[in-house]
Amino acid sequence: DGTTSTLSDSSSNSDEDADAVIFSKGDLTINGSGTLNIDAKKNNGIKANDSLHVYNVDEEEVEKEAVTIDWDAEAAEKAGYEHFMLKEMYEQPKTVADTLSPRIKGNDIVIEELGMSDAELLSIKKIHIVACGSAYHAGVTGKYVLEGLARIPVEVDLASEFRYRNPILEDGAMVVVISQSGETADTLAALRESKKRGFKVLGIVNVVGSSIARESDNVMYTWAGPEIAVATTKAYSAQLIALYLLAMKFARVKHTVTETEFSDMLGDLARLPDQIELLLNNKNRIQRFANRYIAAKDVFFIGRGIDYAISMEGSLKLKEISYIHSEAYAAGELKHGTISLIEEGTLVASVSTQPALYKKTISNMVEVKSRGAFVLAVTCEGNREIEKASDYVIYIPQTNPFFTNSLAIIPLQLFSYYVAVGKGCDVDKPRNLAKSVTVE
Ligand code: AGP
Repeated sequence: DGTTSTLSDSSSNSDEDADAVIFSKGDLTINGSGTLNIDAKKNNGIKANDSLHVYNVDEEEVEKEAVTIDWDAEAAEKAGYEHFMLKEMYEQPKTVADTLSPRIKGNDIVIEELGMSDAELLSIKKIHIVACGSAYHAGVTGKYVLEGLARIPVEVDLASEFRYRNPILEDGAMVVVISQSGETADTLAALRESKKRGFKVLGIVNVVGSSIARESDNVMYTWAGPEIAVATTKAYSAQLIALYLLAMKFARVKHTVTETEFSDMLGDLARLPDQIELLLNNKNRIQRFANRYIAAKDVFFIGRGIDYAISMEGSLKLKEISYIHSEAYAAGELKHGTISLIEEGTLVASVSTQPALYKKTISNMVEVKSRGAFVLAVTCEGNREIEKASDYVIYIPQTNPFFTNSLAIIPLQLFSYYVAVGKGCDVDKPRNLAKSVTVE
């Protein structure tokens, strides 16, 4: 439209489809009004750029082709929802379907963006997943799924730790960085460190053309569209799907699952969007429950295995938007200290979706309940036994145990949202937080 602005994250643009020039670190631009040093930390406004020239640090002019950012203006509006977060939660069935469908071909999973032949996939001996915040939580789920399905050892690191801990990366290792914005400083630094050591990096990224997308050797996009609310919901759901697909791809190549198991899993993946929809339709019941916890001081989330990973994300959602102190614990760790914090009426949300671990988690629920906790259980349909050990139960539909995170997170997101709304918090822009953490 004749004006130009520089943005560190293209999803913060509010225009319709826009032509964009993607700058690299150190690029200089010279236009009618002088020289500008492109710095991701500053928002350098440039006016009318019909003669935009870009130079690298050696002052050589570089060709920059304009790319069109497919920006759907409607996607950046609330479309009748009270908050972006609510709208984005409701977009999850579509997000999940959009991330899945381009990679499912008949009875197979094809991830062209991986850029690896089956032989190359077979040569991967270890995966390092590196990310921050919710993307890290998706990575923790990914570890359980990749190890469980494909029997590949996986290490998951917080990017802020990975970059400074001099990690041991051995031959045959593959690094996977996960980021919604693609601009997170620590994740980008971890990516650069891995590349410096000669390792290939796969980026699981949402924002097209972002720094992490550009610097990764291969990019698997999560097709969640622009996410505006600071608290991620739909991008996190899409990250889970990308990780399931990756795990199933490895599992097929390595023959660690049978053909029947593989097709059953494909069926389960295909059903996820409708199942998520069903859970979202249950929002009134969760809202009523959430209203009882507006004044809560502390909330604990417990679970084992994949349910521990869900607990971490559920706890982060609650604390970041409602400012209620919450912690996630591996249920088996309660006895090692945390149980001393349980008082009369403390809310303990127990996630129990793993058949092999039901009984173990139920015994932890009984322990906290007998010390006065109010126990909210999130479990799979049919697991009626849990009712004796809890005060309130939310059932999720049956799916493959490796995929339950995609369903169990929905009531936890809704719970956090309604607690925050009930407290009158600024849900989309919680205090002290930014959508893209572009500085350390
Ligand atoms: C999650 O709700 C937070 N906004 C935050 O933890 C976020 O996931 C983290 O900062 C990582 O961001 P990224 O996915 O853009 O790299």
